[in-house]
Amino acid sequence: MRAIQIAELSGPDAALRWVELPEPEAVHPLAPDGEEAVVVDVHAAGVSFPEVLQTRGQYQFRPPLPFVPGSEVGGVVRSAPAGSGLAPGDRVAAFTALGAFAETAVAPAFFTFKLPDALDFEQGAGLVLNYHTAYFALRTRGRLAEGEWVLVHGAAGGVGTAALQVARGLGARTIAVVSTDAKARVAQEAGADHVVRSDGAWKDEAKELSGGGVDLVLDPVGGDRFTDSIRALREGGRVVVVGFTGGGIPEVRVNRLLLGNTEVIGAGWGAYAMPKPAYVREVGAALDLLIERDCVRPLVGARFGFEQAAEALNCIDTRSATGKVVLEVRS
Ligand SMILES: NC(=O)c1ccc[n+]([C@@H]2O[C@H](COP(=O)([O-])OP(=O)(O)OC[C@H]3O[C@@H](n4cnc5c(N)ncnc54)[C@H](OP(=O)(O)O)[C@@H]3O)[C@@H](O)[C@H]2O)c1
Repeated sequence: MRAIQIAELSGPDAALRWVELPEPEAVHPLAPDGEEAVVVDVHAAGVSFPEVLQTRGQYQFRPPLPFVPGSEVGGVVRSAPAGSGLAPGDRVAAFTALGAFAETAVAPAFFTFKLPDALDFEQGAGLVLNYHTAYFALRTRGRLAEGEWVLVHGAAGGVGTAALQVARGLGARTIAVVSTDAKARVAQEAGADHVVRSDGAWKDEAKELSGGGVDLVLDPVGGDRFTDSIRALREGGRVVVVGFTGGGIPEVRVNRLLLGNTEVIGAGWGAYAMPKPAYVREVGAALDLLIERDCVRPLVGARFGFEQAAEALNCIDTRSATGKVVLEVRS
């Protein structure tokens, strides 16, 4: 099969190699008790921030070189274990952790979800990582309740657009923070109730729009805006830390939390979900309901051919990506 490897840690332009590899076997390190895994013919592979970091050796998970990156796919089942509810020919969205930038990939059965008819393969390649993270950050960690106000940073990005849709599906009202007019349109398309600009008075605007402060801030960006995120909360409000695309890891002066009766909460989806198959299935079922209700529709912002993987990574690296970036493996 054709595959793309990260062969050196020199950034998106030079790190990738296009190679021929043997077809993978039906085994996956995350499959419990050595259970048979699902083999998927890949139609589309999701491209995300961690792959950009992996080309520089800057991601927390550093496999030995060379390795095939890519954590999620939309594709068709080639083989599946008995009792998994999956059969050859099923259209699926699957989380592979690694190995998605290839014509054939392998995922644990619990991380493989039938793809509803409403979604195409590219949308399937944008479903697991971002939407499970959004649900985990908002609901499991952030304890989001119906009627609450949610402010989403990086709202036109992959996690951001997913968070806007999931929050709305859970009955919350949303304020999107974005850096450009083009990204404002993407956040609106993702269903944001209000959009504010990160280079404007977003904290004051958010307080005014929400009638005094938001209940939850979802932050995949970090950096300088963190203190204002805490200031934007109402009493009992929570900032959920999801990532640091802005570069800087913020520090919190905890007296602010005491004064406002607020919280800062960490949300690391992978470490939490990977050892919990039952939790992953439960979130998959909750998301299926949101798909049925037309709340969840992954926004595919840019599609690249298999040969253009470096451009796909650069699109994320230069902050120009919107929604989900995908590689069309079988176009
Ligand atoms: N905690 C978890 O479990 C988990 C799971 C998945 C992903 N993540 C992390 O979440 C973060 C977001 O991922 P994503 O897939 O949503 O990324 P993305 O699609 O590239 O979106 C990130 C957003 O961050 C903003 N940003 C601000 N400064 C930036 C900079 N210097 N470079 C690039 N973007 C910048 C951009 O919005 P504006 O231009 O509008 O500011 C951009 O739209 C990443 O750090 C990723 O590793 C965490």
